[in-house]
Parts: sequence; structure tokens; C-alpha cells
Amino acid sequence: MARKKRTSVHGQWSGRLAFILAATGSAVGLGNIWKFPYITGENGGGAFVLFYLLCVVSIGVPIMMAEVMLGRRGRASPINTMARLAREEHAHPAWRYLGWMGVLAGFLILSYYSVIAGWALAYIFRAMAGEFAAIDAEGASRLFTSLVQDPVDLLAWHTIFMVMTMLVVARGVRSGLERAVSVLMPGLFLILVLLVGYNIAQGDIVHGFHFLFDPDFSKLTPNAMLIAMGHSFFTLSLGMGAIMIYGSYLPDDVSIARTSFMVAGADTLVALLAGLAIFPIVFANGLEPGAGPGLIFQTLPIAFGRMAGGVVIGGLFFIMLVFAAWSSSISLIEPAVAWLVENHGMKRGKACVVSGIATWLVGIGTVLSFNYWSELKLFGKTFFDLLDYLTANIMLPLGGALIAIFAGWVMRRRSALEEMNMGDGAAFELWHFLVRFVAPTAVILVFLSAIGVLG
Ligand code: TRP
Repeated sequence: MARKKRTSVHGQWSGRLAFILAATGSAVGLGNIWKFPYITGENGGGAFVLFYLLCVVSIGVPIMMAEVMLGRRGRASPINTMARLAREEHAHPAWRYLGWMGVLAGFLILSYYSVIAGWALAYIFRAMAGEFAAIDAEGASRLFTSLVQDPVDLLAWHTIFMVMTMLVVARGVRSGLERAVSVLMPGLFLILVLLVGYNIAQGDIVHGFHFLFDPDFSKLTPNAMLIAMGHSFFTLSLGMGAIMIYGSYLPDDVSIARTSFMVAGADTLVALLAGLAIFPIVFANGLEPGAGPGLIFQTLPIAFGRMAGGVVIGGLFFIMLVFAAWSSSISLIEPAVAWLVENHGMKRGKACVVSGIATWLVGIGTVLSFNYWSELKLFGKTFFDLLDYLTANIMLPLGGALIAIFAGWVMRRRSALEEMNMGDGAAFELWHFLVRFVAPTAVILVFLSAIGVLG
């Protein structure tokens, strides 16, 4: 039953390492360093972290494998991959709407992701101008507030980051960014280790460590579980076709299981390091762990402002953070661009202009939600909060569960086995069991408990 081997019209990775770099570049981003600490702080620490780790292992990794597998078999944008595979598996053509939801989710996430990346851009210059020197908690908060209360400034940084993103996407995913990221990501990792070392030397690590790892299950509300599960999708770039499209450029002989484990492992390590870099500073300076989206911007400058060489180290940190965000943002819009190219016959450049402008426009809503619209709330949430909740906590898990159902139930076992290329042994059986039963059930249970059906 040899199938004719397909390749994507958009090209292929040079090999296994290129894919790992690109997928890790997509996974490691603001989600690990900006979002993970602040949602952990808002949701009580230990138990939340434990539940997040459980989701990564039991849902995230299996779904990542499923996404890569579907992408490699379909060899097209998520919409056309789903349409093609549904046809091949004699399933309902409506499965292509799963691709649609992914394109929409990526586009909406990028609209606010770019605004936050803009904060990191602004902080490069603040760090290098020495604005953190001997700053205290109050000063760091004031500095942050002065940025987000200035919509013109935020809009300018958001614009710059969107242009950066679309420039890379226009040149195709295999541009020079891949090489830059392969140097800068280890750099980011090193600075995180250095910050953890700084906290150890200051004697502040203990409190942070307890907060991150001592589980107090009374704090694990159904809503916190939903946020932890949603974040396991967000941080691994799952549920919207980003990893699927990267999989579509993957050579046929690469092991999907091994590469998925490596990507998820690196991503988790960076998140935990970020937690250990930030929470000790929070507690040592009497800051509020639940300070919200500004958490890293209100804590790290305190450490940079006091350590020897902090101007350089702080500057480098924010530069590397911008690069991590950059290599993630390109994967958020790639599905939309690939689809505009495939289905609307657009040139890649034009597709980038169209999707970039649309994303930029929606991003203005997030810019304003930190100043003019900060009191404008729907369900108690600002525009930014609402967009984040809708995408990360609802669209991604829903997309992920449907991907698992497609890979586990709709696709013939034989097709999955052939594409996974891992042999017909216990490892394949375990994966198949996880995508068939565990992942969809877990998502449904967490959804139900969050809307109160299960209390
Ligand atoms: N994973 C990235 C981060 O943690 C964000 C991201 C990139 C993403 N591509 C994605 C999130 C696709 C969801 C889906 O910062």
C-alpha cells in the first residue's frame, strides 16, 4: 500500500534539526516568559503548575505528535491539509473548518501577542538607557505604568513588531531568522539561569521555589484548571495548525515522537526557569504575585538594576525575549498566509501585507485595553483579557481535541501507523490511546467543570 510521497508547495526543512529549531522557536516565546509566570501568580502557584505539567505530558505531547503527523501527511496549509485528509479517510468535508478555526485563532493571538512583544521592545531601550539603576518595586511599577498608559507609544512598538514579523514571513519560513534564533535562544536560556543564580545568591530562591512547587489544591479552581490546560496548548503552539504547518515541511524519515518530546521538554524547562527567575524577586520585594500581565516587567528590572553589569544583561535579556517572540509570531500567521497563497492565488508578499494589516488593526483593541478602554469590560474582562481567554482557553483546546479525535478516530489506524513511522509497538499503542481517549476526554471534562456543570 505504498502511497505516493507528497511534498509541500512551500518547500521542506533541510532536516530534523531545522524542524526542531523552528518548532522550538515557535513554542518558546512570550508564553513561557511573560504569560506562564503571571498566570501562575494569579492562580496560586504549585497546584496550578502541577496541573499544567500534567496537561503537557498527557495531552500536549500526544497532540503535538498528532499535529505533526497530520501536517506531514497533508503537506499543505491546515485548511487544505484537513480537507485533503478528510477526503482520503472518507470523512466529512466539514473537517476543513478545523483548519479555518486555526487560522482565525492564530490571527487573533498574534494581534495581542504583537502588542506585548512591543513592550519587550520598549524595555530593550529602557534597560540600555540605565533606567533600572537601583530601582525599587514602586519605581518598577511606575515605569511599567508609564508605558502602558501611553497608547501612542504602545501603538508604535506594536507597529514595529508587526512589520518585523511580516518581513520574515514574506521571505518564507526558512529565512535567516532560523539561524539567529539558534544562537539567541541558548542566550536567553543562559540569562534565565543567571537570574536564577542571582536569586540563589541573594537567598531569595526558597520562597519562590515553594510558591512554584508546593501544591495547595484548594486553589485549583475549575477556572484555574481551564487556564492551565489552555496554557499547555498555548505554550506548545498547539491547537491551531502552527505545528501542523511546520509538520507539513518535515522530511518523511524524521521521528515524530522523538522530536515532539524534545520540543516540549525544552519549552517546559524554559517556563520553569522563568518562574524561578521571577517569583523570588516578587517575594523578596513585597510585590503581588497576581499583578497580572505586567509581572515580568515589574520584577526583572529590580534585579537588573541591582546586579553588576545589569545594564548589559538586562538589555540582552529583552533583546533575546524579542527574538523568542519573533520566532513564535511568524508561526501564528503562517497558516493564514499559506492559505491566502494556496486558495486565493496571492503572491506571498501580498498575502503578508493583507494579513499583517488585518492583524495590526485588531491589535489596536489590545493597545487601548491598557489605557482608554481599561474600564470597558465584557464579562469582567477587558478587550485583551477577553481575546486571550477566548483563544487560549477555548479555541486552542477545542482545536486540539478535534485534532486528537481526527487522528485517533477518523483516521484509519493503518494510516496513522504508516505516517508515525514508529513501528507497531507499545509506544504507538500508548500514543493512540492518549489521542483517542485521554486527550479528548480531558478537554471535555475541564470545559464542563469550568462552565460549572461539574461544580
Ligand atoms: N507558543 C508560543 C509562546 O509560548 C506562542 C505561539 C506561537 C502559539 N505559535 C502558536 C500559541 C500557535 C498557540 C498556537 O509564546
